[in-house]
Amino acid sequence: MKHVFITGVSRGLGYGLAVHFLKNQYHVFGISRNPPDGDSHAVLDNPAFHFHPLDLSDLSNLEENFSRILDSWKNGHDFANPEFVVLNAGILGGLGDLRNTSLEEIQRIMDVNVWANKIMLDVLFAESFPMNGQVIAISSGVSVSGTRGWAGYGLSKATLNMIIKLYAAEKPEVHFTALAPGLIDTAMQDYLCGYPDTEKFPAAIRLRAARGTADMPHPVEAGEKIAIRFRDLLRYKSGSYVDIREMKSLCVDNML
Ligand SMILES: NC(=O)c1ccc[n+]([C@@H]2O[C@H](COP(=O)([O-])OP(=O)(O)OC[C@H]3O[C@@H](n4cnc5c(N)ncnc54)[C@H](OP(=O)(O)O)[C@@H]3O)[C@@H](O)[C@H]2O)c1
Repeated sequence: MKHVFITGVSRGLGYGLAVHFLKNQYHVFGISRNPPDGDSHAVLDNPAFHFHPLDLSDLSNLEENFSRILDSWKNGHDFANPEFVVLNAGILGGLGDLRNTSLEEIQRIMDVNVWANKIMLDVLFAESFPMNGQVIAISSGVSVSGTRGWAGYGLSKATLNMIIKLYAAEKPEVHFTALAPGLIDTAMQDYLCGYPDTEKFPAAIRLRAARGTADMPHPVEAGEKIAIRFRDLLRYKSGSYVDIREMKSLCVDNML
């Protein structure tokens, strides 16, 4: 039985990915602060779904808490060498200009979107837990676009891209990708599409226009579309940033 580890499985893309992998006979090991919500019986009642609550913003205890969860999964469910580690959990923070964004707010976003992922990867890569599958960190187009308004979030995803590149250089036996997943109709979009000041942050207008269209699928649909491209990522050099919307036109520099 194949294993996948996904962060942020309670809702949104992480939930959609969990549904896809369960349908495809994987054991899904998932964390988030909350379990998938009460309507999500297809996931919660599936014996191949192994959930543990974990708060990724609690960095001071994360190494210990995550190690404990891994131990319980290893002992109880033979969790080992996952084919995919999907670092999906993320927070947006509020839209705002960088000059109006406090260091505290940036740090809050960085803790969840960046440093928690570093801590979890270091635990996963510890000698007692060999791994040679794929690590896929869910990034965003704004990690490279510098779109006005996505200040702390853009910084965090750009740093995540670099973390993935650095680990790729350090761990040749694992394949790493920072993957921009395209638009998905999740709680994050509830906030963005409802943002009132579109004059200041016009990118929000494009999001509103995409909502309800094929350009912004629902999480379960998106989870499937995205997950079936995971193995294609092996065609890119480990450590690449890849935007799923551009996967057909592969950049030669990035290819193996
Ligand atoms: N939606 C889009 O259009 C879009 C576009 C580009 C990139 N992305 C990226 O895709 C990923 C998923 O986004 P989404 O839209 O699915 O977001 P979402 O619906 O807001 O879901 C976020 C997930 O992250 C978990 N999470 C948040 N804070 C956490 C914490 N402190 N500890 C543990 N888990 C935490 C949440 O679970 P709990 O609240 O239960 O903890 C939830 O399961 C993110 O990395 C996001 O940046 C999304």
